[in-house]
Amino acid sequence: MGINLTLPLKEVAFSHCQPSQEASAIGAINCLRWNGQGWDGHNTDGQGWLDSFHEELATTIQGRKVLVVGAGGACRAILHKVRGQQPAGLVLFNRTPERAQALLQPGERVAAWTDFPTELEPDCLVVQTTSVGMWPHQEQIPLEWPDALPSGVIACDLIYNPSPTLWLQQAAAKGALTLDGCGMLVHQAIRAIEWWTGQKPESAPMRAALQQSLK
Ligand SMILES: NC(=O)c1ccc[n+]([C@@H]2O[C@H](COP(=O)([O-])OP(=O)(O)OC[C@H]3O[C@@H](n4cnc5c(N)ncnc54)[C@H](OP(=O)(O)O)[C@@H]3O)[C@@H](O)[C@H]2O)c1
Repeated sequence: MGINLTLPLKEVAFSHCQPSQEASAIGAINCLRWNGQGWDGHNTDGQGWLDSFHEELATTIQGRKVLVVGAGGACRAILHKVRGQQPAGLVLFNRTPERAQALLQPGERVAAWTDFPTELEPDCLVVQTTSVGMWPHQEQIPLEWPDALPSGVIACDLIYNPSPTLWLQQAAAKGALTLDGCGMLVHQAIRAIEWWTGQKPESAPMRAALQQSLK
């Protein structure tokens, strides 16, 4: 009755289903549901990340400057959700800046990779959506943090293996509040199960199962 999708199927799926508004806005599908005659498509990645953000950090995005690193599929889901939270501003960074440029909406901008340290501000939110630092290349970091961070920086990495990544460990050591990708993985699954069955599972047992499987 339902299928959870990952790369490279998240875009291919559009030609095989009726996408939800959310999936169309993001441009990617991460779950399918059989409706008796065909497939409905949906995306729970962005909402899963936002659920994790609220559950683990107990704060809001409203009024914060947001720096988003990356421009792939996961980034599009994050952008969609961040835009709905009234951030103070949105700045994108990507190794291939043209890909980030293509995602911009009015009022947003792309900054040079090397300007990352100077774009950091007190209370800003940094969301790292690239695959740099993911197992088996856990010694890599996407961007260097400056020696001293402004106060109140929140650093999020979507990677869940390893969790935390080296980049996130460095942020925590410099005083940032941090969020790894485990909560997003758990909550996108919770939202998918709810969409398939109408029942919303609790996060704690799913988190425990994830921790067990990542050992
Ligand atoms: N926690 C969760 O539930 C969850 C859900 C979805 C995704 N994720 C994670 O999010 C990450 C990205 O997934 P995705 O689907 O967005 O992948 P994707 O569409 O392939 O995008 C990859 C991104 O990483 C950048 N990148 C790759 N290698 C790089 C390098 N060596 N240096 C600098 N930038 C590099 C790419 O930049 P270019 O544009 O320059 O190529 C692009 O911005 C993965 O680690 C995935 O596991 C986690």
